[in-house]
Amino acid sequence: MNIVLLGAPGAGKGTQAAFLEKKFNLVHISTGDIFRANIKGGTPIGKVAKSYIDAGKLVPDEVTCEIVKNRLSEKDVEGGYMLDGFPRNLFQAEQLDSFAKIDACVNISVDSALLMDRICGRRVCSCGASYHISTLGGRTTCERCGQPLYQRADDNPETVGARLETYNTQTAPLIDYYAAQGKLLTVECGNASPEEVFEMICEKLEGLNK
Ligand code: AP5
Repeated sequence: MNIVLLGAPGAGKGTQAAFLEKKFNLVHISTGDIFRANIKGGTPIGKVAKSYIDAGKLVPDEVTCEIVKNRLSEKDVEGGYMLDGFPRNLFQAEQLDSFAKIDACVNISVDSALLMDRICGRRVCSCGASYHISTLGGRTTCERCGQPLYQRADDNPETVGARLETYNTQTAPLIDYYAAQGKLLTVECGNASPEEVFEMICEKLEGLNK
């Protein structure tokens, strides 16, 4: 099964990907994580990506599509994968359809009023774990590996505002794109916990095979 995880910044794509990876044995491919690793490593891709990410804009399509196309040609994805953060506009979606077969698009729908707090309160670890300050009780290190937690450079109110605008204008139209293909599975989250959202997603995905 090959799926796209769609949702606004802070909707919980990364959180759900971690659950789905375990349950369905899908390879998790996050374009945001790939860009951040390139920025950290000081690569040419990282140098291009940084200014766009800092401004809350999309990294140019030719860079992003090439990365995903190359990643999907690797052997480990043959058993199925999840794309988290790709595609992010209609051009990327059409490109993806030209080199991959997508079975479903899981649209994680969250009230926009919740997103700013979720993102600005997020603390992450270099091991991939993610937390919210409201549940950390003052702890500053990772529960999983003990390393110090930090805030992503683009998780500040100004950049988050730009990211939400980019989502609304360029990414949200993909909801109709996948609905027209009969592949859209929307999960209305309301105030549901990550575990409850995961249950809802599983129900939708398991329904695919019936
Ligand atoms: P990317 O890394 O993809 O960021 P994003 O889409 O903005 O998404 P986030 O990682 O912020 O949020 P998420 O939905 O994963 O939420 P999370 O699970 O962490 O992209 C970053 C940048 O890279 C982009 O702005 C762009 O510049 C560039 N880029 C990436 N892909 C690109 C592409 N295809 N084309 C061009 N440019 C691209 O959850 C958020 C918080 O909420 C956490 O604290 C979590 O603990 C909490 N939380 C999660 N679920 C719940 C819940 N149910 N209840 C309460 N809290 C919850």
